[in-house]
Amino acid sequence: MIIALGADHGGFELKEIIKKHLLENNYEIKDYGTDSAQSVDYPVYGFYVGEAIIKQEADLGIVVCGTGLGISIAANKVRGIRAAVCTNGYMARMAREHNNANILALGARVVGEGLALEIVDAFLQASFGGERHARRINLISEYEK
Ligand code: RB5
Repeated sequence: MIIALGADHGGFELKEIIKKHLLENNYEIKDYGTDSAQSVDYPVYGFYVGEAIIKQEADLGIVVCGTGLGISIAANKVRGIRAAVCTNGYMARMAREHNNANILALGARVVGEGLALEIVDAFLQASFGGERHARRINLISEYEK
């Protein structure tokens, strides 16, 4: 599975930790930046990862900023993106099973490293439940058009 990663300066360090974790667990990574802790604008990286998913350059995305909020709001502006900010493993599993989220958003100033990796694993190991959930996702897609 190919995972697209993106972060602003607030999420850079956690993005690097997640990258290492994913590589150790045999995921393929595409890193859309940022590449340092120097201040940047989070929408840019939310758009990069959102567009990467829509262009099928990756299967799922993970974005990180200070809170996970700004970068998820930006990613969700890309048509077809369902980015979910998660603060625990249950939310991450539900984001995949019920919401078919294609991007996980994390707040580096909200969750510690251990919890972040637990959330990442829960997100990547879950899959969409379909059925009634598909009907609800379709309503969102129709509205988006
Ligand atoms: C940057 O300081 C911070 O605003 C950003 O990382 C994020 O938390 C925005 O939602």
